[in-house]
Amino acid sequence: MIKALPITKHYTRWNWRTQQNEDYTESVVQFILNTPKSTYSFAALECGYLAHIYYGKRTDDEDLVYLMRLDENPFTPKVNSCDMGTFMDNTPFEYPTTGKGDYREPALMIMDSEGQSLVDLKYKGYEITSGKPQVSQELEDMTVTLPATFAGEGEAQTLAVTLADERTGLEAVLYYTAFEKLDVIARSVIITNKGDKAFDIRRVFSTSVDFDSDAYDLITLNGTWARERAIERSKLHHGKQGVDSRRGESSHQNNPFIALVSHNADEETGEAYGFNLVYSGNFFAQAEVTQFRRTRVSMGINSFDFSWTLECGRSFTAPEAVMVYSCEGIGCMSRTYHDLYRQHLIRGEYKDKARPVLINNWEATYFDFDTDKLIAIAKEAAKSGIEMLVMDDGWFGKRNTDNCSLGDWVVNEDKLKGGLKHLVDEVNKAGLRFGIWFEPEMISPDSDLYRAHPDWAIQVKGSSQTLSRTQYVLDYSRKEVRDNIYSQIKAIMDSANIEYIKWDMNRQITEPGSAALPAGRQRELWHRYVLGVYDLQNRLTTDYPHLLLENCSGGGARFDPGMLYFSPQIWTSDDTDAIERLKIQHGTSLCYPCSSMGAHVSDCPNHTVGRTTPFSTRGNVAMVGTFGYELDITRIPEEDRAQIPVQIEQFKKYNPLVREGDQYRLGDMFSDNSHDAWMFVSKDKKEAVFTAVQVLNRPNFHSRRIKLRGLCPDKNYLSSQTGEVHSGATLMNCGINIELSGDFSSVVIGFTEV
Ligand code: GLA
Repeated sequence: MIKALPITKHYTRWNWRTQQNEDYTESVVQFILNTPKSTYSFAALECGYLAHIYYGKRTDDEDLVYLMRLDENPFTPKVNSCDMGTFMDNTPFEYPTTGKGDYREPALMIMDSEGQSLVDLKYKGYEITSGKPQVSQELEDMTVTLPATFAGEGEAQTLAVTLADERTGLEAVLYYTAFEKLDVIARSVIITNKGDKAFDIRRVFSTSVDFDSDAYDLITLNGTWARERAIERSKLHHGKQGVDSRRGESSHQNNPFIALVSHNADEETGEAYGFNLVYSGNFFAQAEVTQFRRTRVSMGINSFDFSWTLECGRSFTAPEAVMVYSCEGIGCMSRTYHDLYRQHLIRGEYKDKARPVLINNWEATYFDFDTDKLIAIAKEAAKSGIEMLVMDDGWFGKRNTDNCSLGDWVVNEDKLKGGLKHLVDEVNKAGLRFGIWFEPEMISPDSDLYRAHPDWAIQVKGSSQTLSRTQYVLDYSRKEVRDNIYSQIKAIMDSANIEYIKWDMNRQITEPGSAALPAGRQRELWHRYVLGVYDLQNRLTTDYPHLLLENCSGGGARFDPGMLYFSPQIWTSDDTDAIERLKIQHGTSLCYPCSSMGAHVSDCPNHTVGRTTPFSTRGNVAMVGTFGYELDITRIPEEDRAQIPVQIEQFKKYNPLVREGDQYRLGDMFSDNSHDAWMFVSKDKKEAVFTAVQVLNRPNFHSRRIKLRGLCPDKNYLSSQTGEVHSGATLMNCGINIELSGDFSSVVIGFTEV
């Protein structure tokens, strides 16, 4: 489904200078990438530039060259050499650079040995292979595998197009993977210095797409701590609009995801183009509406404060950007992302497997726990059918509050009397598996590690260091730092039967400097830091293939595809309130599968917002994610505790639908704050589960009709609520009656084909 076609066109064009018709030909190599319902096309022009042709609903025509308007000014480079400037500023470019007259957002910027920034990329050739190559970055002392989607032969094809800048010897290979069964095109770029002088890369984006129109809305996911990934949608307008991170992580504030959607797009109809960067650090995502009301979308590592020196013969790999197209609304775009990430990004033992129902002691005890307390929680949890105990922050060094000991990953035996192995053995004896919390990227000033190696913290010589949560960030660009932390983690892992790690990251980077990097490479720190994190997560998941890893960053500040490559689940937010979670989980599901969202039932009044919601609703909302508890089970009211086995049974019944089925969002808390509803339908459409949550009750407004989606119209379904059987067509066209009374009430209904 990837084709490269040489096409020659004959044109006649009126030349106003000579006042005569002129005949001319243009020979191009046209690339067509087809997925089941989308087509992506661009061409190498005779003059060597790569011009974008089309991205959208699938067409099976092989010749799309007419769309390039090569017979129109200013798109005719061949007869236009006297005004290349106009050509450069108008042509939709596939990988735009700077310095030649394209004044829109460039994808690539350099500073060469002579202080010049000009890059003029010209087409050299292409290669099409089946499957998808692995993406990695070679460093001085190792090669780091970058997170990326994967696909075997028959699942995808990859096109590699080589471009080169003669002046500097810079070579850029643009990679495009088109998936066989999903409307996905994954792009990445490798820059190689084939010249005889080093140059600095000042920017290297992963994707750039020029759309022929500005008739789109831009969707972004924004927020803050405990309020992550709220959906915002606005009409495109002239100029630049977008989101980024300069914080060292993908961040609470903005997610590395944007979508362009047609003005009429809703969950079921309209066009949607999703862009998601498989990266966990500083990113940039933007839509720029140009003078001619066309739109350039750019995405990649943030070039803010970034530079990378490329010595002769060395390469730089820009992370992957995943582009999804849907002609069936925003919901279909999301389901494509969910399928892609579940099948082609998440790896390891838990890729397709049910995750254990866990109980985490953070909101139960905070730092105030000991062996006896944890064993008491484990024993009580076992009675209710909970399967794993996760010991959160506070078990190491002398950490009784958040002001010390990060970096000293040594068990605090004052708290854990008898040691870690004793605790884990007792928890195992109680029938639970055991998991543990680490924050491996951090160092407290009050730690033995900091006292021995103050230079291991990220810092700028001569400046005071900014504390955040009383901690500094470790310089993960340094191998000796990573080796030290990893050997400490390994010693803990090997000392007891630990089956889960929560990998946390609780502050952002300030004073971005390294005591080890040379002056000319200081600006590489942001990216080297992320590569360091990937290196350690690669090591951990390779050495412990059965480990269940859950990433976390002050809640959901690193909910990105880069992290999903290493961990099948990510802690979605520190806000565990069921009503706040409606928005957080809804926004997150725009591109991330629900099966990857860490979601727990916690105590009330909720510790973040002080709200009290029914225990059943807390369970019904958490059931959409990985499911677990975050409360002191030995102290909650008996009637709540009695609901736990019932909730776990319900979770187990419906979890295969969440893990493998298709999600349909039926409510919209962002425009209608009264209720939310969603459903999951099995791929064979034999089973479905529906959930509705009411926010505030209103008089005479307790019953509403909700239309289901995703069912097979011709199948008949039995409702677990009413015992009645209706056709899929009826349930989808006419709907079901939902009666909810009371604030924060909810209902879960199963539908089974009969
Ligand atoms: C972060 C996490 C929480 C908890 C604390 C521990 O805030 O998001 O879940 O682990 O750290 O300090």
